[in-house]
Amino acid sequence: MPSPTPSAPIQFTFGLWTVGWSAQDPFGDATRAPIDPVESVHRLAELGAAGVTFHDDDLVPFGASASQRDTIIARFRAALEATGLTVPMVTTNTFTHPVFKDGALTSNDRGVRRLALRKVLRHVELGAELGASTFVMWGGREGTEYDGAKDHKAALDRYAEGLDSVAAFIKDRGYAMRIALEPKPNEPRGDILLPTVGHALGFIAMLEHGDIVGLNPEVGHEQMSGLNFTAGIAQALWQDKLFHIDLNGQHGPRFDQDLVFGHGDLLSAFFTVDLLENGFPGGGPRYEGPRHFDYKPSRTEDLQGVWRSAAANMETYSLLAERARAFRADPEVQEAMRASGLDELAVPTLAEGETVASLLETEGDLGVAIEEEADRLAARGYGHVHLNQLALRHVLGAA
Ligand code: GCO
Ligand code: MN
Ligand code: MN
Ligand code: MN
Repeated sequence: MPSPTPSAPIQFTFGLWTVGWSAQDPFGDATRAPIDPVESVHRLAELGAAGVTFHDDDLVPFGASASQRDTIIARFRAALEATGLTVPMVTTNTFTHPVFKDGALTSNDRGVRRLALRKVLRHVELGAELGASTFVMWGGREGTEYDGAKDHKAALDRYAEGLDSVAAFIKDRGYAMRIALEPKPNEPRGDILLPTVGHALGFIAMLEHGDIVGLNPEVGHEQMSGLNFTAGIAQALWQDKLFHIDLNGQHGPRFDQDLVFGHGDLLSAFFTVDLLENGFPGGGPRYEGPRHFDYKPSRTEDLQGVWRSAAANMETYSLLAERARAFRADPEVQEAMRASGLDELAVPTLAEGETVASLLETEGDLGVAIEEEADRLAARGYGHVHLNQLALRHVLGAA
């Protein structure tokens, strides 16, 4: 198996809305004062982050005048220049304002859909100005609480129309930007459209401009559906659709926890990092984008806790990256991978030039012969548990 590539510095990025969250929830008021985005840029740079990302409204309040907007953006740009932080991704808020209560691009109200589209396009322009190569679209309000509340066929038509319009705009303007959809099963809507990585991949295949539309999967969102995050991003990679990533932590199906990366399912986080840093065991498409954290410093934390939690994301990722490199380089692991048949899976099932007809002729498919063969093949042990124990030893620093 190919050895892992040598390590380059890892590019960590954070949403301004993560550290900047003042910790209001449906049951309680904010526990912290809002943080000035310029302050966040400086603090994140000091902690070693490479970039920041933001929703339009995280920086410029919705409804700000043109001159207010210019002043805010100029101040923000100065902070970026002073720190060297980049903006590799931007995203739009089409969920906070009450106007989006029945959705944005899929609201039953056509006026809302037209307003949402304008808001999205304006932010695509700002993102392009700041050099963002990814435009994340999380359709948090695109959905329903009641199955009878929406014509799903029409909603998917409008979602496709909206996304194709944004993608066509990006192409017409000549922006070097791609759209990344972020699936989530529920919260804030009872059921959100495009609930999982799989739904979103199927949807993208139906778009006219799907070539520049891919995914921004979030750890916790797949786990809220009881799904395996690493397997989800693996399929997105296989389809060349892993455009961006939201790393955080979650304890299985429950409300969206947005914990620090690795503070949920640690073994799963290890295999996510192993895939991102080392690629597939047999080679193939790699994720080259930023390692982006979309988490929330828990409501219990004061400002010191906020910055410590930001640092914890990067520390956890870096520790796991180091453990994942050691895991792949360990001869005992390589032997266990071979014993498990990982390299054998790369061999095509039919030989070159072989057809299913010749397979049937040469191998036979009836009676005693196939039964004996099946018994022989069934006797094999795969050693997957041993391989997993080796992974666990590496995670615990015991290998
Ligand atoms: C969530 C989502 C959001 C989106 C963000 C990007 O936790 O429900 O992850 O945080 O990522 O709004 O548009
Ligand atoms: Mn989330
Ligand atoms: Mn997210
Ligand atoms: Mn989030």
